[in-house]
Amino acid sequence: MNATPAKLILGIDTSCDDTGVGVVELSPDGRVHVRANRVWSQTVHAQYGGVMPELASREHVERIDQIMGDALTEAGLRVTDLDAVAATSGPGLMGALLVGLMYGKGLSQALDVPFYAAHHLEGHIFAAAAEAELHAPYLALVVSGGHTHLFDVPREGEYVLVGATRDDAAGEAFDKIARLAGLGYPGGPAISEAAQRGNPDAVPFKEPLQGQKGFEFSFSGLKTAALLAHRAGARPEDLAAGFERAAVRTLVKTTVRAAQACGRQTVVVSGGVAANRALREAFGQTGLRVVFPGKGLNTDNGAMIALAGAAAITAGRPASRLDAGATAYAPLATTPPAS
Ligand code: KG4
Ligand code: ZN
Repeated sequence: MNATPAKLILGIDTSCDDTGVGVVELSPDGRVHVRANRVWSQTVHAQYGGVMPELASREHVERIDQIMGDALTEAGLRVTDLDAVAATSGPGLMGALLVGLMYGKGLSQALDVPFYAAHHLEGHIFAAAAEAELHAPYLALVVSGGHTHLFDVPREGEYVLVGATRDDAAGEAFDKIARLAGLGYPGGPAISEAAQRGNPDAVPFKEPLQGQKGFEFSFSGLKTAALLAHRAGARPEDLAAGFERAAVRTLVKTTVRAAQACGRQTVVVSGGVAANRALREAFGQTGLRVVFPGKGLNTDNGAMIALAGAAAITAGRPASRLDAGATAYAPLATTPPAS
């Protein structure tokens, strides 16, 4: 018998301050299974209150070999077992991206296997494919430290941007408000934890962009409200509870309206903020089929890039050329929204 064997795909993400390497097994029937997912989260930036791009690049260089070895060990594989390599080519910090991209290209050359340059946001979306079967059409909310983007996906590989944030990304607001309230970094988990001990009615947070017809988001008003309340002596737990409730409501309501407008029953919610418990609970009550990435796949990681590589292979996309460059700014939308 000549059964087609499963393919083993290595994925690398070094787009920001996490060095992520993962391995995904792609079965001939298109099913995917995460064999390994190792992430080194850089701590050097904490003392600066934000990511220092040059330091991020250097840390990626220092760590990537070790993380790659750890991922192969976790998967129980040798490097020569790999059938394809995928790496994030953008968007992200230029120097940081280049480390993983060049490493991935070099590895694919050395192993003589195909190389796939992956889009970071497509990676976040495909992170959900390891959790449940994902077939277009669906709506995708990518909500992270750098993005709050709502895409309609009418066909595999086609992305229509239906809404985005006008100002801060949701995760950025979580991080900045946590810092203001002295709750620590990263702000998302810190706010989430403090919110459980707070009263969401103690500090009034107005839900942003109420009454809008479009599908945009805005988080700067919530940030200002948090600042004013903090100066007026609000308890950090109450700030956290009030902000989290308003942020969750605006994300869920706008996404549900967009799903109705686009006629979609399935919604993927991914990116770091998708780890938020209150957000997951609220989406669970919408009546839509909502797919979240599994544990460890919400925040930046390499397995999601391996999953994007798997999707490219399944779709029959050609491998990337080895002169594929890194792009700091790389919009995902392939189609403008119908006006
Ligand atoms: O996807 P990600 O790792 O990096 C970007 O591509 O931006 O997302 C990181 C963001 C941070 O802003 C972090 O505070 C947020 O995700 N985050 C959360 C939670 N866990 C991480 N936000 C809310 N609730 C959480 N549990
Ligand atoms: Zn990300």
